[in-house]
Order: sequence, then structure tokens, then C-alpha cells
Amino acid sequence: MLDFNYTISTKIFFGKNKIEKLDEALKHYGKNILFVYGGGSIKKNGLYDTITNFFTRHFIAYHELSGVQPNPRITSVRQGIKLCREHNIESIIAVGGGSVIDCAKTIATGVYHDRDPWDLFLQGDSAIKKALPIGTILTIAGTGSEMNGNAVISNQETQQKLAIHHDLLRPKFSILDPTYTFTVPKNQTAAGTVDIMSHIFEQYFSPTKDAFVQNRLAESLLKTCLYYGPLALKQPTHYEARAQMMWTSSLTLNGLLGYGKITDWATHGIEHAVSAAYDVTHGTGLAILTPYWMEYVLSRETTDKFVEYAQNVWGIKESSDLAVARKGIEKTREFFTDLGMPKTLRGVGVKENKLEDIAEKTVLYGDVGKFKKLGKTDVLTILKNAF
Ligand code: NZQ
Ligand code: ZN
Repeated sequence: MLDFNYTISTKIFFGKNKIEKLDEALKHYGKNILFVYGGGSIKKNGLYDTITNFFTRHFIAYHELSGVQPNPRITSVRQGIKLCREHNIESIIAVGGGSVIDCAKTIATGVYHDRDPWDLFLQGDSAIKKALPIGTILTIAGTGSEMNGNAVISNQETQQKLAIHHDLLRPKFSILDPTYTFTVPKNQTAAGTVDIMSHIFEQYFSPTKDAFVQNRLAESLLKTCLYYGPLALKQPTHYEARAQMMWTSSLTLNGLLGYGKITDWATHGIEHAVSAAYDVTHGTGLAILTPYWMEYVLSRETTDKFVEYAQNVWGIKESSDLAVARKGIEKTREFFTDLGMPKTLRGVGVKENKLEDIAEKTVLYGDVGKFKKLGKTDVLTILKNAF
């Protein structure tokens, strides 16, 4: 196990009606709030009314930033920063999924940055010095943003989707009420399940051999997705299925699985370049790319890790190690297909003549992947295979 410092500082209020804890949660963070949300799902399911009534009852002044889109844009961040400065905002409440939360996080630190917020993504994490406190009310399981310090933002002008990471961006609290995810549509439920699994893969497939506890945790979380992901898809109001997926999503990308080991993140790097160019749903892009990434990195040196995965997660028994490893990959692909995910990049509108550009953007700041390092040619091959 490698050395690490452990911080998972977000306070979690998990369960039905935990919105009632909002008062307690917000206590230390002022009475002048920026309320950030997406395209309207919270208006349809009544959450908007619940929250605004709460603000009124508790004499909390709020300003709204609505319409944050999936694959959130730097333009929304700029709007939010402007509102914070105009109204002396003291803290931010993000109600939604990864897109809304990431936008809120970037606003929270962008407000203290004296240049355009996109500059933070170009300068890197050391440019983050301060951030407003954030709280989240999660409405869709997938990214883990509710419990981590990451924010991923798209810039349509430069066709880039880049990330920042900092402990200052970790939400101070997150309210996780699984009933809020009952209305998540099937395609987003499936995409969220894949995203959670991909976060596990990115940390499980690692060059660090001595990570027994991390690996067993990862396998348990994967098995939870295999069981409860399809159940949530079939029965959207199945409380236990939604609850298990929600908590798995948070545990998967709050640092827990990655502490003490080297992690990969190549598939995410490639997917972010794809969704920057084509506005593809993040989990959908991952469902297409992951099996092709697995096939590409399977080699004599990596077979043992794929065998561990296939045996411990899928219970596969075959005559040779290579057959076990390949079967594990096949099972992964089948699982994604059964969730209703497309199998090819062509199927989500990607054009063949754009693949080279996507590969170039993926490695713009250096090679990707630590389980297996990938340069432009490797990435291009994966993209062509996935096309
Ligand atoms: O905008 P509204 O109307 O709210 O609709 C959203 C949106 O269309 C809808 N939705 C959310 N909750 C709902 C609901 N519809 C009905 N009922 C509900 N309860 O779902 C759609 C997708 O929302 P989004 O926030 O985009 O989904 P997700 O949570 O998957 O976030 C994806 C974004 O997060 C980034 C992705 O790249 C992508 O930009 N990621 C963030 C990470 C992080 N911060 O740690 C890590 C991830 O790897 C990922 O890169
Ligand atoms: Zn992801």
C-alpha cells in the first residue's frame, strides 16, 4: 500500500425526508445563498417548491442560477460568478446531478479568481486558493460529485472538457434522499450505473499490486451495481435499489477506493474528449469505450488483474487465464448492452473524421492512463475500434 492522507470531509444526510436537515446543515454558511439547478426536473417533481418554501420559512435570501446543462458549460459558471459578486453571496446550494454540482463548485472558487474561470482549468489545481462553501441536494446517482472535490466543465468554444480537483471544492454537506431519484429517466439511470462502475474500474485496474482492501471494496461496489443497477432501471421507485445506487455512487468517487494506490483514468480522459466534441451523456460514452479500453490494455502483463476481476466479480471459470480474462470483458459489454447502452461511437453521432482530433485532445496535456500508459496512437486505436 502506498502512503496517503485521508480526508473525506463532506457531512452526509442520507435517507427519506432528510431535507428536514437543511436548516441544521446550512446553519454555519450564511443567509444569502446562490441556488443552482438544471433544466427543470426539480420543478416537475416538486423539489423546487420544497426548497424555496424552506428558504422563505427560514428567512434565507436566495438568487437562482437555473438551466445548467448536462456537460455543464463555462458560460453558466460565468453567469453564476456574476450573480455571486452582485449579491454578495455567502454560500451555494446545488440541487441536481454532477453537472449542477460541478458548475456550483467552479463558481464557488471562480468568484475568488481574478481572471476568467476557464483559466483555472488551464492553470491547474494550484490556482485554487479559496472557495465559497457548497451544499448539495443530489437528484441522480452517478458522478460522486456530492462527496468529492472534482469539477468537470465544458468549453464549447475550444471544444474541451477539463477537470479541476481540490479539497476546498468538497461540499460541506450533501443531502442524499433516494426518493429524489425515482424520477430519473431510464437512459440516465443506466448512464449513472455505468459511470459508477467506470469510476471503480479506473481505480481497480492499477499497477499497485498491494491493495487488498481497496480491491475487495471495489469488487463489492461493482457487485452492488450489477444487482441494483438493473433493478433501479426496471423499477424506478424501488427504494432499496435507488438507495444502494446512490450510496455506491458516493463511496466510489470520494477517495475511498483510490487511497494508497495509483489509479488509471484513461477511459475518462478519452470520454471527456468525446463528450466535449459531441455533447454525449458521460455514462453513455463510458459504456461504449470501456470494453474497448479493456480489450486494448489486456496483455501478458495485465492478464492477472483481468482474471481477478472476472473471477471475483463475475464468478467466471474457464480453462485458461486468458479465456477467463476475455470472458470478464465480454460480460461487462453484455451488461452495458442489457442496460440499453449503445455499443459504438457511430451510434451516438460521432463522425469518423473527428476521431484523430478527439485523440489529440485526449493527450493534449500528456499521455493518459497509469495501468497502461496511452499515447495518441493508442487512444486513436481504441477510438477506431469503438467506432
Ligand atoms: O437538468 P435537469 O432538468 O435537472 O435534468 C437532468 C439532466 O438532464 C436529469 N435529472 C437529474 N436528476 C433528475 C433528472 N431527471 C429527472 N429526475 C431527476 N431526479 O438528468 C440529466 C443529467 O444530469 P447530469 O447532472 O448531467 O448527470 P450526472 O450526474 O451524470 O453528471 C454528469 C456530469 O458530471 C461529470 C460528467 O462529465 C458530466 O459533465 N462528472 C463529474 C465528476 C465529478 N465531479 O467527480 C466525475 C465524473 O466522472 C464525471 O466526469
Ligand atoms: Zn465519470
